[in-house]
Amino acid sequence: MSAFQLTRTLAPDAAAADLRADVLHGLTRTPKELPPKWFYDARGSELFDEITRLPEYYPTRAEREILVARAPGIAAATGARTLVELGSGSSEKTRFLIDALLPGLTAYVPVDVSESALTGAAEALLADRPGLRVHALVADFTRGIELPDTPGPRLVAFLGGTIGNLLPQERRSFLASVRAMTAPGDAFLLGTDLVKDEATLVAAYDDEAGVTAEFNKNVLAVIDRELDADADPGDFEHVARWDPEREWIEMRLRARHALTVKIPALDLVVPFAAGEEVRTEVSAKFRQEGVRAELADAGFELVRWWTDEEGRFALSLATAR
Ligand code: SAH
Ligand code: AVI
Repeated sequence: MSAFQLTRTLAPDAAAADLRADVLHGLTRTPKELPPKWFYDARGSELFDEITRLPEYYPTRAEREILVARAPGIAAATGARTLVELGSGSSEKTRFLIDALLPGLTAYVPVDVSESALTGAAEALLADRPGLRVHALVADFTRGIELPDTPGPRLVAFLGGTIGNLLPQERRSFLASVRAMTAPGDAFLLGTDLVKDEATLVAAYDDEAGVTAEFNKNVLAVIDRELDADADPGDFEHVARWDPEREWIEMRLRARHALTVKIPALDLVVPFAAGEEVRTEVSAKFRQEGVRAELADAGFELVRWWTDEEGRFALSLATAR
């Protein structure tokens, strides 16, 4: 059997229908908003990888530091034979976990909406791990996911702080769905970025080189290409703002002047007032007690909490009750 298998659970026309529904809903409401999953076409996935190497974007380095130190302990504590990773992207940090779990690891199951990220990640992982089997799923982790029938115990990982990109109600149903993927004794490994000073947070989402601005505007390129729209990225300004009450960063696109965006595939013309903003992402930041409570609500018990030396980012290990 081949070491790499890829299953597309999203029919191309279903993904297209989802995009149309999200754009129609999001750009005809007030205030306007778009879900962040549409950033990640092939170009968006590349831009995110570039973000992870920016001096201002500390979460990836901080989480890697924790994984390097803790992967052997996580492997020993979970004895996982299947590693499922949601929103796996390049799987660049996951290799520390995979290497700690091998040779007992029977299957690595990365799940992502970006097929290019999944194939690139699998190619890199398989190049120097002859014992590894990768069963990639092109799937939306906010929808029900059917996992391949691989041996337990299962470890489900959700790294990078991507949980912060879900709104509180979405987080609740997402965590319940993760619990449904696990049996008592299985484990969940969750990366969360932590609340910290505003200047550090805003800089991480508004870097000097403008890579995050390009990533933010990539959603317009996706809408233009997929829906034949005429949004001009140059007409919009990148905005990153800290909301101290909700404890999240919001990314927005602000119209530089009054304009319209024509979206023929939806038979829609979207007017923007000068300065009007579309929210394109929230990135929530967490505290230990909040994480513990949200995990407990979903049926998980927090058993370990690790942070990097500077206390910027946390990795939680939880077991299914
Ligand atoms: N886990 C990696 C990548 C984080 S970037 C890391 O820590 O570096 C977020 C990833 O989640 C991207 O690869 C994106 O394509 C994926 N993603 C975003 N929304 C998704 C969704 N609804 N379903 C599946 N994957 C999603
Ligand atoms: C994937 N996710 C955790 C990133 C974040 O930090 O919220 C996405 C991102 N948005 C802007 N920069 C990075």
